[in-house]
Amino acid sequence: MLLNFHICKKFNVVFSNHYLMQTIISQDVEKSVTFLKNGEVIGVPTETVYGLAALCSKPDAIANIFKIKNRPQTNPLIVHIGTFETLSKVCTSFPEKAKILADKFWPGPLTLLLPKSEFISDQITAGSNLVAVRMPNHPVALELLRILNEPFVAPSANPANAISPTSSAHVFEYFNGKIPMILEGGVCEKGIESTIVGFENNEVIIHRLGSLSKEAIEQEIGSVQLKNQPKDKIVSPGQFSKHYSPNTPLVLTNQIENTLRLFPNKKVGLLLFNDLNFPISETIIIKKLTENGDLDLAMKQVYEALHQLDKMNLDLIIAEHLPDVSVGTSVNDRLKRAAGTHYIY
Ligand code: TXA
Ligand code: MG
Repeated sequence: MLLNFHICKKFNVVFSNHYLMQTIISQDVEKSVTFLKNGEVIGVPTETVYGLAALCSKPDAIANIFKIKNRPQTNPLIVHIGTFETLSKVCTSFPEKAKILADKFWPGPLTLLLPKSEFISDQITAGSNLVAVRMPNHPVALELLRILNEPFVAPSANPANAISPTSSAHVFEYFNGKIPMILEGGVCEKGIESTIVGFENNEVIIHRLGSLSKEAIEQEIGSVQLKNQPKDKIVSPGQFSKHYSPNTPLVLTNQIENTLRLFPNKKVGLLLFNDLNFPISETIIIKKLTENGDLDLAMKQVYEALHQLDKMNLDLIIAEHLPDVSVGTSVNDRLKRAAGTHYIY
C-alpha cells in the first residue's frame, strides 16, 4: 500500500492514460489542474453527481473518457463552465428564455442545449450543432474551473448504464487504477443528475428530468414540454431480463405489501419513501430514503441507497414510488429507468 503510494507519487504525471496504480483521492485542486492540463481524465465533484472530467481542448483525453466509461461515441458530453463570460467561448447564441433560466439557476443543476461555437468539437457534441452547457454549483468544481480558466467536459463518473456516483468512494470503486485522481468534494448535495433543457421553435423542452424540478423551471418561464418519458410497462413477476443500473433486478411499485407477497422465497431489499404499515420478515433489508417525507433528502440519498443495496447479493430490490411532484417526479424517472420493464403498480 505504502509502496503503491510512493510509486504513484513518483510516476503519476508521467503515465498517460494507463493507470495501473491506485487512484489518488485528494482535495488538492492544483494537482487536479495539473492532471487536466496534462491531458488526463480525472474524477471531479459537482452538486449533482461526480463527473469524469477532461478539458474541452484535449481530444485524446475526451476519447479516453468514452473508452473508460465504455460509452458510445454517439452519446455527447456536457460542457462545464465556471463563469458567464465563458459562455461566448462555447456557444454562438443564447435564447431569451435560456438567459432567464441561467440567471435564476446558474450555478446549479440546469443544463442548457445551445448552438455550439467552433471551439466545441464534434467529438464533444457527437456531431450535433448544439452543445450541452452547465455551471455546476459546487465550491470545489467552481474553484477548479476558476484556476483552469477554461471549460471541461464531464459525463457522470460511472460505466455506461451503471448507477451514477454521489461520492468519491463510488468513483473509486468504478475506476480505481483507470484514472490518476479523484478530486474530493464530499457527498453530492443534490444526488441525481442535472435537468437538461432545450429550445426549439420558441418552445422550451425538458430532455432529461433531474435535480432541478419541472415546476421550478415553469415558475420562471411558463409551461414547458417534457420529452423524456420512458414507456411505463406492467409485467408479471419472474420475467426478469438482464437490464442496466443497478445489477440487482428492481421493481418499482406503489404497493409494497402486495409486491412482497409475489416473492415469498427471495432475498429482498426495500427502498422506501413512506413508513411500512404492515409487519415484515426480519430477513428483508430496508433502506428508508427520508424520515419526514423530505423529497430533496430522498433525492440526495437515492443513488447511495441503490449502491448499497446492489452490493448485498439480493435477488430483488422493491422500490417505492415517491410522490409525483417536484423532484419526486425526477427521482421516479430514475427509478423507472432502473426498473426497466419490471414495473408493478
Ligand atoms: O448532473 C450532470 O449533468 C452530470 C454532472 C457530472 O454534471 N453529468 C451528466 O452527464 O449527467 P452524462 O453524460 O452522464 O449525461 C449527459 C446527458 C446524456 O444523456 C447526453 O446524451 C446528453 O446529456 N447530452 C449531452 N450533450 C448533448 C447535446 N449536445 N445534445 C443533446 N443531448 C446532450
Ligand atoms: Mg450519466
